[in-house]
Amino acid sequence: MSIKETKKIADAVEGYLGSREGAYLYSLAEFTGGLGDVVEIGRYKGKSTIWLAHGRKGNPAEKIFAVDPHLYGTEEKFRQNLKTAQVEDRVVPIVEPSAQAAQKWNGGRIARLWIDGGHTYHEARTDFVSWERFVVEGGVIAFHETYSWEGVRRLVDEEILPNEKLAILGQWDSICAVKKVSHLSAFARQKKRLFSQAQMSVQSGQIGAPPLAFAAEKNFA
Ligand SMILES: C[S@@+](CC[C@H](N)C(=O)[O-])C[C@H]1O[C@@H](n2cnc3c(N)ncnc32)[C@H](O)[C@@H]1O
Repeated sequence: MSIKETKKIADAVEGYLGSREGAYLYSLAEFTGGLGDVVEIGRYKGKSTIWLAHGRKGNPAEKIFAVDPHLYGTEEKFRQNLKTAQVEDRVVPIVEPSAQAAQKWNGGRIARLWIDGGHTYHEARTDFVSWERFVVEGGVIAFHETYSWEGVRRLVDEEILPNEKLAILGQWDSICAVKKVSHLSAFARQKKRLFSQAQMSVQSGQIGAPPLAFAAEKNFA
């Protein structure tokens, strides 16, 4: 489905993605076609699920495993929204907290991991640590609310930036996306340094908005 059609459907779904963030999730499919399936942590009413499922040049055979204990009684609405978006046959709902779900994971290869569950440091870190090991090399991990929530920002600062196997792919509004690599190239190292400096400038108030210069490597609009 085109980005315009997806936007029309996803915009009608109540949720927490910023107005431009869904398109970024959609674009990430382009990097991971054929590598494996998608795991979403924190689906709420399905807004991000729909963007993930319709991802650009994504593999139509890939499944979206959508993990959420439905803390806010959202399951029925979630299912209705998937039906409207015609993606219910590709989405496998898992109704439990992400750490528990990870313990039962069948070991299938994960091409994209979207982390948008609890946003405290402990919650976001638990989601990351529980699932990161199943993401294949070349796969993408994207974090939501990396500026608006201190816990997620701290996770990126303390665990993602120093990680020698995670390269920064892009930062778009509050989404930070990284790619799993065998080692960091010189370019990837330089990009991490610049990213880190830009993060510090945002935190110290020198620039007010997230560093859009680190947006997608490919034009996705
Ligand atoms: C910010 S909302 C997700 C928004 C959604 N991605 C969207 O596009 O609108 C956070 C969701 O995370 C879920 N959640 C909270 N703790 C969780 C956990 N431990 N594992 C999985 N999901 C969790 C909540 O039930 C809630 O539905």
